[in-house]
Amino acid sequence: MPASTVHVSQHPAVLHKLAILRDERTEPKKFRELVRELSWLLGYEALADVGVRPIDIRTPMESMTAHELDARIGLVPILRAGLGMVDAMLELMPTAQVWHLGLFRDERTLRPVEYYNKLPNSATVDLCLILDPMLATGGSATAAIEVLKKWGAVRIKLVNLIAAPEGIEAVTRAHPDVQIHCAALDRSLNDRGYIQPGLGDAGDRQFGTGLGD
Ligand code: PRP
Ligand code: URA
Repeated sequence: MPASTVHVSQHPAVLHKLAILRDERTEPKKFRELVRELSWLLGYEALADVGVRPIDIRTPMESMTAHELDARIGLVPILRAGLGMVDAMLELMPTAQVWHLGLFRDERTLRPVEYYNKLPNSATVDLCLILDPMLATGGSATAAIEVLKKWGAVRIKLVNLIAAPEGIEAVTRAHPDVQIHCAALDRSLNDRGYIQPGLGDAGDRQFGTGLGD
C-alpha cells in the first residue's frame, strides 16, 4: 500500500468528535452536526497543498497583497451519505462547484450501482474532492474516481471519515495518484462489508432510516 497517498488525521479535535460520532447512542441530529464538523476539519487538512495566487486588496489601513485559492475546486458528494459533508466544505471553499454522483452499494454483491450523474461533457474543475463518509470495500470510491477520470479530472482527492484497510488497498491499487484523507483507519470489514468497529450505516444514521431492516 503506497502510504504516501493516505493521510489519517491525528488532530485531537477529530479524535474527540469521532468518538461521539461512532457511539451507537448518538441521534441523527447530533450525528449530522458531527459529520459536518469533521468534514470541515478534514477539508482543512485536505486543502493544505492547494495553490494560491496573489490578489491586491485594501484594508481600512492600507493596500496589501493577499491570497486567494488558485484552483477551480469541484466537490463530488456520493449520494446519499456524502451529502452531509457538502455544507462544511462549501464554508471552506465558497466558490467550489458541487457535482453530485449517485452510487449505492448492492447489499448482496457489494458492487456499486450508479443512479445519478449530471456531469457536463468535459471537466470544469482542476481539483475534485470526492466526499463520502465511508470507504469500505472501495467499490464506490473506485467507481467514482473512474467516472471523474473519464470526465477529464486530473487531480482527485478522496475525503472519508472512516476507512477500512480493504478500501484503502483497493483505491490505492487502482488509482495510486489519488490522495486519501480520512479521520480514522479501522480494523477490517465484516462478512456483510461493514467497517469494524466503524459506525454502522452512515446514510441511515444521518437520515434516521434503516429502522425497517
Ligand atoms: C455507503 C457509503 C459509501 C459506500 C461504501 O453508501 O456511503 O458510498 O457505502 O462502501 P464500499 O466502499 O464498499 O463501496 P451506501 O451504498 O450505503 O448508500 P447510501 O449513502 O445511499 O446509504
Ligand atoms: N457503508 C456504510 O455506511 N458503513 C459501512 O460500514 C460500510 C459501508
